[in-house]
Amino acid sequence: MENQKEAFNIGAVVAVRGSVVDIHFDAHLPPIYSLLHAKEGKVAIEVLAQLGAHSVRGIALTPTEGLARGNSVEDTGGELKAPVGKRILSRMFDVFGNAIDRLPAPAGVQWRNVHRSPPPLTQRSTKSEIFETGIKAIDVLVPLERGGKGGLFGGAGVGKTVLLTEMIHNMIEHQKGVSIFCGIGERCREGEELYRDMKAAGVLPNMVMVFGQMNEPPGSRFRVGHAALTMAEYFRDDEHRDVLFLVDNIFRFIQAGMEVSGLLGQMPSRLGYQPTMGTELSGLEERIANTDTGAITSIQAVYVPADDLTDPAAVHTFSHLSTSIVLSRKRASQGLFPAIDLLQSSSKMATPGIVGQEHYLLAQEIRRTLAQYEDLKDIISMLGLEQLAPEDRNVVARARRLERFLTQPFFATEQFSGIKGKLVSLKDSLDGCKRILRDEFKDYPEGALYMIGAIDEAKEKFQPGKPAAKSDSGAKPGVKADAKPAADSKSGAKADATSAADSKPDAKADAKPAAESKPGAKPDETSAADSKPGAKADAKPAAESKPDAKADAKPAADCKLGAKADAKPAAESKPGPKPEPQSNPAPEPEVAHAAAGAHDS
Ligand SMILES: Nc1ncnc2c1ncn2[C@@H]1O[C@H](COP(=O)(O)OP(=O)(O)OP(=O)(O)O)[C@@H](O)[C@H]1O
Ligand SMILES: [Mg+2]
Repeated sequence: MENQKEAFNIGAVVAVRGSVVDIHFDAHLPPIYSLLHAKEGKVAIEVLAQLGAHSVRGIALTPTEGLARGNSVEDTGGELKAPVGKRILSRMFDVFGNAIDRLPAPAGVQWRNVHRSPPPLTQRSTKSEIFETGIKAIDVLVPLERGGKGGLFGGAGVGKTVLLTEMIHNMIEHQKGVSIFCGIGERCREGEELYRDMKAAGVLPNMVMVFGQMNEPPGSRFRVGHAALTMAEYFRDDEHRDVLFLVDNIFRFIQAGMEVSGLLGQMPSRLGYQPTMGTELSGLEERIANTDTGAITSIQAVYVPADDLTDPAAVHTFSHLSTSIVLSRKRASQGLFPAIDLLQSSSKMATPGIVGQEHYLLAQEIRRTLAQYEDLKDIISMLGLEQLAPEDRNVVARARRLERFLTQPFFATEQFSGIKGKLVSLKDSLDGCKRILRDEFKDYPEGALYMIGAIDEAKEKFQPGKPAAKSDSGAKPGVKADAKPAADSKSGAKADATSAADSKPDAKADAKPAAESKPGAKPDETSAADSKPGAKADAKPAAESKPDAKADAKPAADCKLGAKADAKPAAESKPGPKPEPQSNPAPEPEVAHAAAGAHDS
């Protein structure tokens, strides 16, 4: 390019304001999106406006340190380009296509403009197919579309990155095509960790990573998505391969646009967003499309400012997606991970024509149950669970079990949760939900369903449940009805108590094995607490011995009338529960769970 310097026109810097640079050209005015170089290529500027016959205004894609009025600027005669070709696989790039993985620049690549138009309507393909993720809550209620766009919406720290990483882990190995990860405006550390993880998992040979993280100037964050998409389009159009296009975080693209717009002096629109937000976002999103030759499936994390889903950035993004997964802070605080708000999330795939009649009806029933529980929460908090009609209590029991079953241990969080990650097939997920709705697990402690994979693991976790179940069926209906609601109203642990309470003799037997069977597991605690009619008595020893116990103790304290009713008889009935001490070695998840229950109630 340096040799060609003379051939192109040279301008001079007139003004520099942060990332915005005005440049005067005597001869030829460079067109919009032209890439200009200053300071021997150290500063790159993209032209975004023509101010008059001889001057342009551009946004720098690099820091502008050292740039001064009068510096010469050369017009490269082209736009920003990204490298494409087979050789870019397994590599990591910045917005300019420079390799940033400490390896030499890839040889034998082509360079393409990053500004391209979306494929015309006539070339688009319209078939709809489900993309399984192995994550229960998503596959059952908000299935992703193969060749569609899915968004993970959430405020700060509710688990977007963790969920996205988990999806990459689950999908990338089964994905025959190529995966492209684009990091926009997030932490550099996360990019580096992902690179190492992918390398360790051996999936790097079919992956490309492109980063414009939060330390980079707004121009770079604004264009890095285009660069990554250009690579994705190459694999779709030239190599006819399917592409998985992952973005963390698309909101940062909008935010970079807002910064650029502000720097350019444009009048802001609602809440300070740029007036051109819709155009900019659709310019990017519409390029993520399926053609007859290949599909680009995209999953994007979307930061939601102040957890406000009516924020213009979130609203605009919603409209582009076929699946919107909303993460809720409340569920995250209850320890119900993945913290998906099952009622707010939606998928265009969840129709009988695509997922099938059976799956559709089941999903509807799950939603109905959860929605009813949501409606009942107010009454429960005012009057207590025991004031509900028996049918409503059943709904509550089912909903709480469903909520817990739809949590899942992630591979991505193995290191800090200490629980092994689980991948669950759609069939197993549906089967589990169906059986919970049929009340097959109503005598299981709620904790037995927490952080498991397929539903049969609940049986392994809570073997004693079997006898309890039996005895239940034999038990007096009146007693049961009472005991349960009370149990529900308390934390999960108490809920367990229900079953125990029902069947006293069994209960003891139950509790023990449970406690033994899993040291770390929630269920132990639960079952112990439950099983003893002496739920109370149980809780105490726990409290003494372990901090977890607090979680237990609390719910009891929190719980309303119903709870008390429960606890008492229990306390009276059984003084000395031995199994407790064993059950104590409960890990965090338990605590979280119990806490969750407490909140709920
Ligand atoms: N599935 C999960 N299991 C256990 N813990 C989780 C899970 N998901 C999220 N967390 C917890 O929440 C924390 C934040 O998650 P994450 O970094 O994914 O949030 P984020 O939404 O990407 O936040 P940000 O907007 O700041 O990027 C994690 O460090 C972890 O402690
Ligand atoms: Mg994140």
